[in-house]
Amino acid sequence: MSTLKNTIDTIQQELTAKLAAAHTQKDVEDIRIAFMGKKGSITELLGALKDLSIEDKKEFGPLLQQLRQNAEASINQHKNALLEAQAQAALNKQKHFDVTATLPAAVRGHLHPYTHFIQEIQDIFLSMGYEIWDGPEFETDFYNFTALNIPQDHPARDMYDTFWTDKPGHLLRTHTSPVQIRAIEKAVKENKLPIAGIAPGRTYRHEAVDASHDFMFMQCEGLLIDKNVTIANLFATAQTFLKRLFKKDELDIRIRPGFFPFVEPGFEIDMRCVFCKSGCSVCKQSTWIEVFPGGLVHPNVLKAAGVNPDEYSGFAFGFGLTRLAMLKYGIDDIRLLHSGKIKFLEQF
Ligand code: PHE
Repeated sequence: MSTLKNTIDTIQQELTAKLAAAHTQKDVEDIRIAFMGKKGSITELLGALKDLSIEDKKEFGPLLQQLRQNAEASINQHKNALLEAQAQAALNKQKHFDVTATLPAAVRGHLHPYTHFIQEIQDIFLSMGYEIWDGPEFETDFYNFTALNIPQDHPARDMYDTFWTDKPGHLLRTHTSPVQIRAIEKAVKENKLPIAGIAPGRTYRHEAVDASHDFMFMQCEGLLIDKNVTIANLFATAQTFLKRLFKKDELDIRIRPGFFPFVEPGFEIDMRCVFCKSGCSVCKQSTWIEVFPGGLVHPNVLKAAGVNPDEYSGFAFGFGLTRLAMLKYGIDDIRLLHSGKIKFLEQF
């Protein structure tokens, strides 16, 4: 029966040699299956034990059990050693973390220049005690025109190339001024005069699209109603806002008459060119840039909204937010600003 003893020794040697060459968990698992699995060599030997004579059983039984226990122990040991080596390698890798290694470029999102610009404008006016108002872009004839002292057949309606809609008396607002009316009405209803607020938002005009016109653009309305408001308040507000927006300690403004049916008197407020001293392409060599239409709220507008013009007065303005954004960021084509082209927008 010495051949059985030889077999046991051979299996033991084979196992030791194979484990020594095993470098992965899978290698170890394959070895376990080959020796201890259902059809493994050790399992088969143990199975054959029952066919041996009593004496052989006595002699080889303990040897086989020993072989099984040894095999189990050395396989587990090897497995644990591998796990430990793996953990150590991961730890070493961390220790040698290279802080100068370059990361693959990550695509980062950012605010649209409009969003950024509107936040900046809002911050300035909030700091002056103004509220932020919103109003519908799908408006009625009443709020967009009639309540603003532009009745049916008033020639001023021609200034606004209007997108009328299928719903009679409804249009896409041509300016943000209807928000003025809504704000005054609300204040009267809630007995909340005086009020001050701005309303940035989209406006629509049926215009041919070119570098400086689009059928959609943005304006920012401003309104202040209180007792004894004068044009001096409007000019000071415009100047303060423009100085803060263009980050200038000094910024001259000048006033020209301007006609809008909902203000009296009405003005066009220009600012000194913020890009040059003696004329450039932005100010068309004039050193002045037209930025800020406004005026004192027309008594008819106050009356129509339920405010007594003998008691209250106010100023309103409605600057082209799109135009100002293009000026500030040096964008010379409105189609780029409205394009949604990432390559372009990424620059801001
Ligand atoms: N809503 C006017 C326009 O779009 C601008 C404006 C607003 C003028 C408020 C005066 C006062 O042309």
